[in-house]
Amino acid sequence: MAFALQAEEETMKAAILGGGPAGLYFAISMKLRDPSHEVSVFERNKPDDTFGWGVVLSDETMSNFEDNDPVSEKMIRDNFAYWDDVKTVRGTESMTSSGHGFCGIGRKKLLMLLQNRARELGVILEFQADVSAERIEELRATFDVVVASDGLNSKTRTLYAEKFEPEIDMRLNHFVWLGTHQKFDDAFTFIFEETEHGWIWAHAYQFDADTATFIIECGPKVYKAFGFDTLNQEDSIALCEKIFARHLGGHALMTNANHIRGSAWIQFPRVTCENWYFDNVVLLGDASATAHYSIGSGSKLGMESAIMLAQELNCGKSLGDALQTYQDERKLQVLRVTSAARNSTEWFEEVERYLTLDLMQFTYSLLTRSQRISHENLRLRDPAWLASAEAWFQKRAGGTSSRSPMFAPFKLRNMELVNRIVVSPMAQYKAQDGMPTDWHFVHYAERAKGGAGLVFTEMLCVSKDGRITPGCPCIGVDQVPAWSRLVDFVHAETPAKICAQIGHAGRKGSTRLAWDGIDKPLPTGNWDLLSASAIALMEGNAEPKAMDRADMDTVMAQFVDAVKAAAAANFDMIEMHAAHGYLLASFISPVTNKRDDAYGGSLEHRMRFPLEVFHAMRAAWPAEKPMTVRISAHDWMADEGVIPEDAVDIAGMFKEAGADAINVSSGQTDKKEQPIYGRMFQVPFSDRVRNDIGAPTLVAGNIYEPDHVNSILMAGRADLVLLARPHLSDPYWTLHAAVELGDTEQAWPAPYEGGRRQANTLAERAKAVTT
Ligand SMILES: Cc1cc2nc3c(=O)[nH]c(=O)nc-3n(C[C@H](O)[C@H](O)[C@H](O)COP(=O)(O)OP(=O)(O)OC[C@H]3O[C@@H](n4cnc5c(N)ncnc54)[C@H](O)[C@@H]3O)c2cc1C
Ligand SMILES: Cc1cc2nc3c(=O)[nH]c(=O)nc-3n(C[C@H](O)[C@H](O)[C@H](O)COP(=O)(O)O)c2cc1C
Repeated sequence: MAFALQAEEETMKAAILGGGPAGLYFAISMKLRDPSHEVSVFERNKPDDTFGWGVVLSDETMSNFEDNDPVSEKMIRDNFAYWDDVKTVRGTESMTSSGHGFCGIGRKKLLMLLQNRARELGVILEFQADVSAERIEELRATFDVVVASDGLNSKTRTLYAEKFEPEIDMRLNHFVWLGTHQKFDDAFTFIFEETEHGWIWAHAYQFDADTATFIIECGPKVYKAFGFDTLNQEDSIALCEKIFARHLGGHALMTNANHIRGSAWIQFPRVTCENWYFDNVVLLGDASATAHYSIGSGSKLGMESAIMLAQELNCGKSLGDALQTYQDERKLQVLRVTSAARNSTEWFEEVERYLTLDLMQFTYSLLTRSQRISHENLRLRDPAWLASAEAWFQKRAGGTSSRSPMFAPFKLRNMELVNRIVVSPMAQYKAQDGMPTDWHFVHYAERAKGGAGLVFTEMLCVSKDGRITPGCPCIGVDQVPAWSRLVDFVHAETPAKICAQIGHAGRKGSTRLAWDGIDKPLPTGNWDLLSASAIALMEGNAEPKAMDRADMDTVMAQFVDAVKAAAAANFDMIEMHAAHGYLLASFISPVTNKRDDAYGGSLEHRMRFPLEVFHAMRAAWPAEKPMTVRISAHDWMADEGVIPEDAVDIAGMFKEAGADAINVSSGQTDKKEQPIYGRMFQVPFSDRVRNDIGAPTLVAGNIYEPDHVNSILMAGRADLVLLARPHLSDPYWTLHAAVELGDTEQAWPAPYEGGRRQANTLAERAKAVTT
């Protein structure tokens, strides 16, 4: 349905700088709303002299266009090329998945259609009108509104940079936008080629009967090694034709950027602007924010913003109010897409990390790279392909079923887990004088019954002085009977395994129970603290003693005794807690380690004591049982602290020392941290560690849906997934997840069989109602 015209609107004079999709579509949208508006488009190029080949638009976008202007929507739709498949080609291997539903149109065609429609509606189109800074000032004075749709290098944005406050982040990779008559009409095709200089790849898709877009991309090293930075366009294209020869079937690669000097390779500028307007000047399209060609949403965003801007300017508001609403609404919408674009951009920047994965996992990782497409979403798109991916995962894990990845088994040394769900360590503050209580027995036993393959205890402290709070439990000779009772129950009554997390609070010790004021010192009865350096946690907390060698020996012996106690209690696994700012972590982070001896300074030196402890613990722990280490992969303190790049080295050193897996966490090192919590926010760190050092990883952090777990595992971003808070609200999270997924193979404790049957029946009924 087209909108209603608002007759009482005042006629407006609008100058549009740039006749790309956004500018032209805004011009059309203005004239449609009020034909009396005087709308002029100033475009520096000739009508058919445009850079680029095809653009992709989705069904959802087309339906927005139909509501706005059914005429141009039909024009566009009549010229579409459609395809449903995504094909991954890596060297000589390839794999296709379906159900992705794209449509494409040539950029030139799109612009010609929009130009015609604009002309038909009375828009004044001035071509070869390169608008200078002086001219922009003149237009401001003579038009009611100046719309800057002058693209990603917007002159207007630069001219008024103080007002718009743009941030331009030049991305690492280089790319060139070419075309070809080779057919890619069966699928949106990603081609990865390994060359003598490294990997280079193409994003190829058909956009009309005989032409396809062929975007070539590579990292900076490969770009330089091929000499693309020095070649002219002709030589650069000839080289690309050679590299991709076996995919081009003898067809040439073509450029339509002859007006551009140099090789036409560019880097992608990620543009964001604090403000999208001032006075009567407003940014639109790529001038205001860019997405990334790898998710193909730039034209869509620009054109949808054009609709909103025209709407706001025609609903009777003052100019200022209209522009403010436009900014508020569109900034948010655009942010959603640009966040996905950021993930996708970064995936391609780091693609070498994934190129060694099995093609199945690599394809899955590619398809889910923007994090907009989830595991279950892929099932809807192509159930057969996802089933084959799940079967591949199970087979590789040694499983025989066709269950979801979260229900695949996993083995570390001799410990066999029935699935990939882990109850993350969580302090309970319910111990008395270092002794675990009935609370611990009930709490952990209940979670072990809940179906998770592995249950972690909270941090068990190696000494009373190593506790965080008076409510924290210890692990030593005195606690063996209590912990044994729990471990025996878990082994006798459930298929779960149980891991003791062992640590020392360091400078974060001697504080109150969480609910009495987390991290605040005790009102009375404080004990002495140890840390890498004498830096208090925060104002009011005691200054710890910087450990000398004798302290190190004492603490190391305590860790070893703790391991012996864990072995005596028959835990299945131990984890050394070297994260979250506690004692061992205080050595690793440069924020908390300011030592000038052999245990401070470079990362190698800062790792020395934690590695000594690790070796001593490993030696005291039965060889057939696994041992992991938890690290903070990011201190969230910019370059002052540990950054994910360091985490790869830290994890690498622990792997070398014999860690069976790395539990990748982050933060809590210092109160000045500035973490960014989002859905699955620590997964990128785990992904990096796992695939860079080739060690299994565990990951936690805002992961709460079975869909999250399956996509993390299937894409190879971690091997085990920890859920903390979800297990506080639901001890039976895994059993319920199986019900939600329609997985009837999940075993429940025998006395709960009636509950299992009812839950599955109710879930099936609910599904039948909604489908
Ligand atoms: C390799 C690549 C592939 C892409 N693939 C897709 C895709 O598949 N789908 C998709 O939706 N988007 C895609 N995009 C993005 C898309 O091209 C842009 O997001 C889209 O064109 C933005 O529209 P726009 O009107 O804001 O800017 P532009 O299309 O850049 O238009 C700006 C116009 O302003 C003109 N101009 C600039 N300065 C002046 C001046 N001073 N005076 C007069 N005129 C001026 C320019 O000549 C140009 O015509 C891709 C981009 C690249 C680089
Ligand atoms: C109440 C509570 C106590 C925690 N105690 C510990 C702990 O003892 N050791 C540890 O390594 N992490 C601890 N954590 C962190 C969790 O293990 C987990 O990494 C974090 O909560 C993020 O996961 P989530 O988003 O699933 O909650 C604790 C978290 C919570 C909520």
